[in-house]
Amino acid sequence: MLVPCSYQGGKQRVAAQIVDHLLAAANPSSHFYDLCCGSGAVSIELVNRGVDPSRITMLDISSWGVFWSAIGSNTFKMNVFDHFLSKLPSDKRDLKSYMNSLSALPVVDYEAELYPVLQACSFGGKQIWRKGQTWVNACFRDYWEPTETSIRRSPANPMQPSANELLRRVDALVNGMKGVTCVNIDIMTIVSEPLPNNAIVYVDPPYKSTTGYAFDFDLSSFINRFRQINQTPLFISEGIGLNDEAIMLTFGGAKGGISGSKKGKHQEWLSRF
Ligand SMILES: C[S@@+](CC[C@H](N)C(=O)[O-])C[C@H]1O[C@@H](n2cnc3c(N)ncnc32)[C@H](O)[C@@H]1O
Repeated sequence: MLVPCSYQGGKQRVAAQIVDHLLAAANPSSHFYDLCCGSGAVSIELVNRGVDPSRITMLDISSWGVFWSAIGSNTFKMNVFDHFLSKLPSDKRDLKSYMNSLSALPVVDYEAELYPVLQACSFGGKQIWRKGQTWVNACFRDYWEPTETSIRRSPANPMQPSANELLRRVDALVNGMKGVTCVNIDIMTIVSEPLPNNAIVYVDPPYKSTTGYAFDFDLSSFINRFRQINQTPLFISEGIGLNDEAIMLTFGGAKGGISGSKKGKHQEWLSRF
C-alpha cells in the first residue's frame, strides 16, 4: 500500500526507517499511535510490515483525520469517490479550472471522499483544509508541456497520482487499513489523560520553519505534558535533532543511501524521548 498522494511534510520516503525504530521499541502487545498522521505514511508502513490495523491509532485535526476515520471504520463510500473521479475532465488542460470550481462548492457531505481528490491536485502538495463549509488554500496545478528550449523534458501533470492510480491506491487502503482507529481531534486532547502502558507514540508535527499548514500546536508543551503523564516511548520527527539521542534519517537513492547531511539540504531527524 502507498499513501494516496504526495503531501507537504509527508513521510513516505523515510517511513521505513521510522518504522524500524518503532518496531525495535515494540513487543507483540504494543499499540502504535501515529499522531499528526496526515497522508498516513507511517501507519501504512506499519501495516505493510505486518502490524494489524487494530493495533494502530491515528490522529489528525485536518481532513486527513476525516479520511482515515472513514477508512478505519469501513464507512468510506467508494461509489462516491469513484463518482468524483469519473467526473474529472479527460483533457488534463481542463483540470485546473474544473478543480477551482469543484473546490468553490460548499462542503456539505462527503469530505472524506472529496478531500483526497483535491489534495492530489494541490499545487506542490500543499495542505488544503476545510474551514466550515469552505475549502481553504485550494491552489491547483496547470498541465505543462516542455517547449524546445525548456530544461525539464517531461510534462508536469496537474494531478499526482493520476485518477486511475489514486483509485487503485485508495481501494487498497479501504481493504488493507480497515480496522485502524482514527480520531479527528487536536493533538493536545491526547495528553489530557495517560495513554495505555503498551503505547508506542510517534508524532510528526508541522516543522518549525514550514509555512502553509492550517493547524499547529506548541511542541515543547506537548512533550512536557506527555512526559508528565506517560512513561511510554515517544518518537518525534523534526527537521533538526531535538535531543542528544536524535538520529538523522537518510534519503535512500537508487545507488543506496544518499545521505541527507549535505549542507543546505532538507533533513529529517527522529528524536526519542
Ligand atoms: C508534517 S504533517 C504530517 C505528515 C504525515 N506524517 C504524512 O506522512 O503525511 C503535520 C500534520 O499535523 C497536523 N496537525 C497540525 N496541528 C495539529 C493539531 N494541533 N492537532 C492535530 N493535528 C495537527 C496537520 O493537519 C498535518 O497533517
